[in-house]
Amino acid sequence: MTIKRKLKSKLPKKVLYWYYLRSAKKVVAPDLRRRVHDKVYNDSKVDKVKRNLTLEYHIIEKGLTMPVPRPGFGKTVVLSLERTIFEYHKLKLSKNDLEFKQSVSVLKEYKEFHQKIEFDLDNEVTLALNRVVDTFSNLEGIKQIKTTKEEYFKSIDAPFEEFCNSRYSVRNYTDEEVPLDVLYKCVNIAQKSPSFCNRQPTRVCIVKSAEKKQAILSIQNGNRGFGHLADTLLVITSVISTTKDIHERNENHLNGGMFSMTLLHALHQNKIGACSLNWSVSNDKEEKLRRLLNIPENEIALLVISCGYVPDVLSIASSPRKEAKEIITEYL
Ligand SMILES: Cc1cc2nc3c(=O)[nH]c(=O)nc-3n(C[C@H](O)[C@H](O)[C@H](O)COP(=O)(O)O)c2cc1C
Repeated sequence: MTIKRKLKSKLPKKVLYWYYLRSAKKVVAPDLRRRVHDKVYNDSKVDKVKRNLTLEYHIIEKGLTMPVPRPGFGKTVVLSLERTIFEYHKLKLSKNDLEFKQSVSVLKEYKEFHQKIEFDLDNEVTLALNRVVDTFSNLEGIKQIKTTKEEYFKSIDAPFEEFCNSRYSVRNYTDEEVPLDVLYKCVNIAQKSPSFCNRQPTRVCIVKSAEKKQAILSIQNGNRGFGHLADTLLVITSVISTTKDIHERNENHLNGGMFSMTLLHALHQNKIGACSLNWSVSNDKEEKLRRLLNIPENEIALLVISCGYVPDVLSIASSPRKEAKEIITEYL
């Protein structure tokens, strides 16, 4: 045993705790500072406007593809998206950027949807929509997808590229039960995901109890309109004791993300519709989840995945992607 280790083993736990807490704070501080600095000082107007466009158009694309879209839904978001679209316009950036084109396109679809169901939107919303539609009449994005179960799963045995491109977040489920053995099979496939030194920190809670599902969904902020239809919630957690020191703190999320992606693919291949549900919650909600699922103190929750079999006809949010050339920096 090294002298340092010997010394540490002799120290009372309380002293060790304060020692580690102090050094952990030091390690974490630069990341926190960078984030707070970005929030307060970073004048990267372009990044932030694009972020807002995406956040807002995504809420509308989701609303349009709900099992039962609510007429007049998302008024505040529509108004805010219109303002963000003109904010972007003022910056004189490319009208062909995905975020902008898709935002305009989604508002056009919102207008068309309400015309089709002959629902009178209120005046403020109609004016905002018309301003966007009239100003950018020549822009076309990717429309939301209306498909059949057969069509949606037609590429599950296709080569990898086609298979990957065929998966979407599905927010439309039947009440047919997904058998436990199928879920175990999918989790076994996800277990093949790489992990740091093969430490395999990720854990999965399969939640089928109606009360527990309802309790989880009530504290998660992205499942309105569809979460209640999910046959199963998969709560992805990670064991923090698998990390050796504070420098490894991001490994739980990183490994869990890789695991979750494989799991989403496995569910897709088994003809199960699934949607990731963020677990970016306040500490009190985190505590509620811990109590609800008896999550041990040395585990943290990362993500919830809602899943179920899909109806014969379903709508899917198109969520188009930037191209590789837009996100790659070459150092050749
Ligand atoms: C970490 C994470 C959190 C997410 N949270 C939510 C959520 O709370 N509600 C929701 O409807 N979709 C959520 N999604 C799904 C995304 O909206 C979706 O993955 C994205 O729009 C891309 O679309 P696709 O999955 O269909 O390719 C989340 C996805 C990820 C990766």
